[in-house]
Amino acid sequence: MKRYDLRSDTITRPTAAMRAAMAEAEVGDDVYGEDPTVRRLEEQVAALFGKEAALFVPSGTMGNQIGLLVHTRPGDEVVIGEGSHCAWYESGAGAAWAGVQFAVAGAGGLFDAAALSEAIKPLPDHFPRTSLVVVENTHNRAGGRVFPQAQILELASAAREHGLGLPLDGARIWNASVASGLSTAELAAPFDTVSACFSKGLGAPVGSAFVGSRDHVRAAHRFRKMLGGGMRQAGVLAAAALHALAHHRARLSEDHRAAQLFADALRGAPGIELPPEVETNIVQLTVTRADAYDVARRAADVGVLLNATSRRTLRAVTHLDISADEVVRAAELLGPLAAS
Ligand SMILES: Cc1ncc(COP(=O)(O)O)c(C=O)c1O
Repeated sequence: MKRYDLRSDTITRPTAAMRAAMAEAEVGDDVYGEDPTVRRLEEQVAALFGKEAALFVPSGTMGNQIGLLVHTRPGDEVVIGEGSHCAWYESGAGAAWAGVQFAVAGAGGLFDAAALSEAIKPLPDHFPRTSLVVVENTHNRAGGRVFPQAQILELASAAREHGLGLPLDGARIWNASVASGLSTAELAAPFDTVSACFSKGLGAPVGSAFVGSRDHVRAAHRFRKMLGGGMRQAGVLAAAALHALAHHRARLSEDHRAAQLFADALRGAPGIELPPEVETNIVQLTVTRADAYDVARRAADVGVLLNATSRRTLRAVTHLDISADEVVRAAELLGPLAAS
């Protein structure tokens, strides 16, 4: 049976050209700061985001956690959008390592300056100290939505007014850049720090970058070590990331187009509701008649793999390893399954 794997854009395998770049990478011990390929990646990524420095880290989770550690003190409160990755999918790490708690601003993941101001605790000592606001762009649980830049600029100025730090969870910032037509530097400009992944839509096997000022990255370097993220001959992985940056960025528009085709092929299917617009490579389906976990199980039986994200919602993600034709075929197989 043919498989259509739409569970995540993390399931891609390195292409032959990427593997060749990895095999040829010049390496050294990166814990001693001696891996030239890692250095090259960090310099390139810092420039792409218009920041002073970058640090190669093993995962987006570590990039986000370092963001919390760099910007907060234990007992602080961090404002997030509903469904934020750092509160939902990082195994409680924010509470375990940074010792922070989260406050949700607004509903649906994207929020504005007014919602931020409402979420900030007043000053007296018996409240937690609100010290940070995390923005996720694109927003995973919101269905890959792009945070409107005007909204981010307003948020950032409200955050500054209240003295809050502002890290960006930019795991899929590359998708936001392609979809909005804004450069990664423009998208990163309002933020203090950015965590960006090479292992999602860009198709590298491993790795993310934590990006910011020299001081932030110096602090991040120490936290990476504490979290066990110091890597040795990591140039083989950095080479994959460099290859991905050079060859897999512009093509993200193909993933976005495939996601739109998937959604269009499902419009009108009984028991399925779709957002009016699919902005990037994630399609969030609401099932109105059946249990989403059950639909996901039955879809797997016909070769369509996708994740239920609640009893009412399913998530499909397009990526480098699935074509537009395959995505449409997957939609045809999935369509009838949510009717009852
Ligand atoms: C928005 C977002 N942030 C962070 C991460 C974490 O990345 P990783 O799986 O590399 O830890 C993910 C992973 O899917 C994500 O979707």
